Amino acid sequence: MVKAVVLGAAGGIGQPLSLLLKNNPLVTSLSLYDIVNTPGVAADLSHIATPAKVVGYLPPDDGLKKALAGAEVVVIPAGVPRKPGMTRDDLFKINAGIVRDLATGIATTAPKAFVLVISNPVNSTVPIVAEVFKKHGVFDPKRIFGVTTLDVVRASTFVSEIIGDLSLAPSVTVPVVGGHSGVTIVPLLSQSSHPLPSSISKEDHEALVKRIQFGGDEVVKAKDGAGSATLSMAYAGAEFAVKIIKALKGEKGIVAPTFVNLSADKSGGDALKKEIGKDLDYFSAPVELGPDGVVSIRSLGTLTDNEKELVKAAIPELETNIEKVRETQSKYL
Ligand code: NAD
Ligand code: LMR
Repeated sequence: MVKAVVLGAAGGIGQPLSLLLKNNPLVTSLSLYDIVNTPGVAADLSHIATPAKVVGYLPPDDGLKKALAGAEVVVIPAGVPRKPGMTRDDLFKINAGIVRDLATGIATTAPKAFVLVISNPVNSTVPIVAEVFKKHGVFDPKRIFGVTTLDVVRASTFVSEIIGDLSLAPSVTVPVVGGHSGVTIVPLLSQSSHPLPSSISKEDHEALVKRIQFGGDEVVKAKDGAGSATLSMAYAGAEFAVKIIKALKGEKGIVAPTFVNLSADKSGGDALKKEIGKDLDYFSAPVELGPDGVVSIRSLGTLTDNEKELVKAAIPELETNIEKVRETQSKYL
C-alpha cells in the first residue's frame, strides 16, 4: 500500500505525472492537490482500471491537509514555469512562497513523507523545503529530494542520438550531477554506459554537454511563451518517484542522481565535499535509496579533466542559489 500525493496536480506537469502514477500498480492511493481543477482531473483518472484510488482536493476545507494525510511520497510540481528570456532563478520570487506553503503543509501533516521537489529553481526550492522542515523541528535530510532526473533522461536520449541508435535510449545511463540549471548541470559522459563514438570531435563533445545543460531552454524556446517541459518532466518525475517507491518497499541497490542535503549521509557527504573542493550544503550526486530514504551519497567516480572543470564551473552558481535561501529566508520563512 503506497499513498502518493501530487501538489500542483492540475498543471502541465501535474496532469501527465498523475496519469503515470495512476498507471503504476505500486501506487494504491493517489491524492491530487492544486488551487484549481483537481476534482475534474481526479474524476477523469479515477476511471482508469488500475489499483490506485484517486481523490482530488482544493484549498477550501483544509484540502491540503486532507490530501497529505497518511502520505508516503509527495511530489511537488506546483509553481510558475519559465517563458523565453527567463532563467530558472527568475522564478524564485513567486515559487519560493508556493513551495514554502506546501512544505509547511507537509511538515505539519506528513512529516515522514518523502518529498520530491520539481518546482524551479530546484537548487533553491530544495533548501526552502529543508528550512521549513527545520522550523517545524521535523527536518530529515534523508527524505527530501530535488528531482534532477530530466537531465539524466535528456543525457540518455542525446547520447543515443549521437551513437545513431535511438532504440538504445532506454538503456543508456549517464550520471548527471551538480544541480538543475545551466552550468550547474554536469553530465559525466565519460561514465556513460554506452561510450560515445571515438570519432566524436571536441566541438561535438562540447555541443553535447551544452545541449544537456541547456535542454530546458530548447523546450522553452520551442513552446514560445506557453511554458517549459511538461511531458518529458512528467516521464522523468514518475521514473524517479517509482524508484523512491521501490526503495521504500525494500528493493535494494537503487541508485539515482538527485539533489540532496549532503548531511543525509555524513561520511559520503563529507567525502563528496572533498571531491568537489567546496563545503556546499547541497549537491546532486548519485544516491543509493532505501526504505528510510538516502542510504548513501556516492562518489562522483573518476572524472576527466574536462569534467573536473565542469564541476568547478558549477560551484559558484550552486553556492549563490543555495545561499539565496539563507539570505532571504527572513522575508518569507
Ligand atoms: P503549470 O503552470 O502548467 O502548472 C503549475 C500548477 O501549479 C498549476 O496547475 C497551478 O494551479 C499550480 N499551483 C500554483 N500555485 C499553487 C499552490 N500554491 N498550491 C498548489 N498548486 C499550485 O507549470 P508546469 O509546466 O507544470 O511547471 C511547474 C514547475 O515545474 C515550474 O516551476 C517549472 O519550472 C518546474 N519544472 C521543473 C523541472 C525539473 O526538471 N525539475 C522540469 C520542468 C518544469
Ligand atoms: C527543464 O529543465 O526543462 C526545466 O527545469 C524547466 C525549465 O525551466 O527549463
